[in-house]
Amino acid sequence: MKGLILCGGKGTRLRPITDSIPKPLIPIANRPLIFYTIDLLIKSGIKEIGIIVNEKNKELFEKSLNNKFDANFHYIIQKESKGIAHALLQAEEFLDKEKFIMILGDNSFQVDLEKTIDDFITSKSNCKLLLKQVENPERFGVAYIGDDKIINVEEKPKTSFSDLAITGIYGFDHNIFNACREIKPSKRGEYEITDAIRWMIQKGYYVKYEILNGYWKDVGRHQDMVEENIYRLSSMDEDIKGHVENSSISGRVILDESAVIYNSVVRGPIVVGANTTIKNSYIGPYTSIGKRVNIDKANIEASIILDSCYISSVETPIDSSIIGEGSIVSKENGLKKVNRLVTGKNSRIYLK
Ligand code: G1P
Repeated sequence: MKGLILCGGKGTRLRPITDSIPKPLIPIANRPLIFYTIDLLIKSGIKEIGIIVNEKNKELFEKSLNNKFDANFHYIIQKESKGIAHALLQAEEFLDKEKFIMILGDNSFQVDLEKTIDDFITSKSNCKLLLKQVENPERFGVAYIGDDKIINVEEKPKTSFSDLAITGIYGFDHNIFNACREIKPSKRGEYEITDAIRWMIQKGYYVKYEILNGYWKDVGRHQDMVEENIYRLSSMDEDIKGHVENSSISGRVILDESAVIYNSVVRGPIVVGANTTIKNSYIGPYTSIGKRVNIDKANIEASIILDSCYISSVETPIDSSIIGEGSIVSKENGLKKVNRLVTGKNSRIYLK
């Protein structure tokens, strides 16, 4: 069986982070988000993986993925971001006539995918969706279910009579391609996969479901990134290779061999990347710190600090924050008691 991961989206809600990194490559616990999905596919026995990307990001994906997994990646270009159904059509040749699994590149799951796939292959269903009970179904595609099948689906309804969201794992047979060709763009101008699935249901195809009990996150907003980081750090094993001096370390800490912690209090779970130095600081649980970061006299918790940042002499605690690559956060030394900001397009700054 082949797998397909969709990575062609624009990630507008995650700007400015996505101005320089495509959403699926954003580091979560210092690993690109898509790595966790690839792990899932490989664990379930899928090693032929199609990756839908836009032209401009192809090289970035190749660089990040190649030679890191026991799998073959096939990069398929989606020239315009016109929705999931449009993206899927670009992969028709690669996927051929067999049943396949499609996963959205900005989703994260805890699921026994092998079991889900076995059931999909052995059943007579044409499509299988993983559904998850949620409190805010209006944010997602939703499904209405009968005894053993889905009887209707709707994309982001204003008010929903179902609290079952359609998660980003889909099993399809080749009939989905005709469905994708038949539908019209939605109000947001996209060819919606939900509309293609509704077309299948209306034509009498068997659309099955499974309720997902494990974790699921659609990493669409900044808060989702912070929460996803917490989730991933929660299950990582301690691994202190770097140099620790005159510091108090507790909880699970993953410290690269070239990283240094000096005169600090560190409470895991945290991960610290290569050539990073932490001095005179407090680093609290659920923090990921990338490569070549310098932290001195700071107090940071539940945050994501990307590569090559410099954080120094910041008195107020930094919490639930995402600090983009190469950023500087430091004390303003001028005479006036002010905040001084130099920000790029789409930055977010929340001051107390
Ligand atoms: C897409 C789908 C939606 C699904 C969601 C899961 O939404 O259109 O049906 O529930 O992914 O993450 P989007 O992220 O494009 O808003």
